[in-house]
Amino acid sequence: MRGSAAEAAGGLARDAAAGLTAKPKRLPAKYLYDALGSQLFEAICELPWYPITRAERALLARERDAILARLDTPATLIELGGGNGEKPAILVEGLAAQRRAATVHLIDISETALERARSAAARYPSVIVRGHRGTYAAGLRAAAAELDPQRSAMALFLGSNIGNLDAHESRRFLAEIAGALRPGDSLLLGADLVKPERDLLLAYDDPLGVTAAFNRNLLVRLNRELAADFAVERFRHRVVWNAAASRVESYLVSQAEQTVRLAAAGGCSIRFAEGEAIWTESSYKYKPEEVAALAESAGFTLSAQWIEADAAFALTLFDAP
Ligand code: AVI
Repeated sequence: MRGSAAEAAGGLARDAAAGLTAKPKRLPAKYLYDALGSQLFEAICELPWYPITRAERALLARERDAILARLDTPATLIELGGGNGEKPAILVEGLAAQRRAATVHLIDISETALERARSAAARYPSVIVRGHRGTYAAGLRAAAAELDPQRSAMALFLGSNIGNLDAHESRRFLAEIAGALRPGDSLLLGADLVKPERDLLLAYDDPLGVTAAFNRNLLVRLNRELAADFAVERFRHRVVWNAAASRVESYLVSQAEQTVRLAAAGGCSIRFAEGEAIWTESSYKYKPEEVAALAESAGFTLSAQWIEADAAFALTLFDAP
């Protein structure tokens, strides 16, 4: 299911107007991924201070055969919000080596990410690629409607994308996945684990300033798409480890008292006090048993859990209810 550009712009205008007039001010993290934001996120994944991508790649390669053993032939993979598609490609490469055909459903909010994922998977002639642009929920419904009733499917929710949802949202989303899957299907979930605060702060506030650019690009996007007049240089990237909530919080902090106008969002004016922040993202970190409990509360059954100890990252495989 695809939303039109106008619908998408309407969503951004509504969410920005509501979020920036709320207390504390906030903007939904999904808007970080315009074309430039998606590229900056890819750059983040290559940073030495951001371990999630490397750890997950290593686990997928290490446990590939155990994961592939869970798939039917032809295999069906549904990747939810996968970015550039290189992770399902690790599994697809294994299937191709075993001469097994596969269909890969790719779901992403970003057209740029989807295009890259499509071309990564299209390297393998034995693979059919189906792209679904939209939110996770809409894409999942579209993919589920195309599933072969004779074959089981495996949903992939990787990269610790679960970590950008709060407890309520993640439980609801996992229940939605459970509702779209059938008995015999499975879910492979990648989740970042709690680690020392110093490592977490470096991962989200890197010395090259790439993550700061990723965060501040949200204001560039609002200027472009909502005819807003944010002076981007007057907002600083700040991250906080909230141990009680077990999450890294990302903010854009106003460096001065200022007023910003959002011309294409009802022309509303937003006042910022000096030091006032917009909360742009939360990245939740888990204990291994919390990952299992979270999916179990949505009806899944734990099948296997693999941990990359150096980076503190877990891949967990669940059976669908
Ligand atoms: C996509 N998501 C899991 C990333 C994270 O770690 O929360 C997004 C990100 N934000 C800053 N760096 C990476």
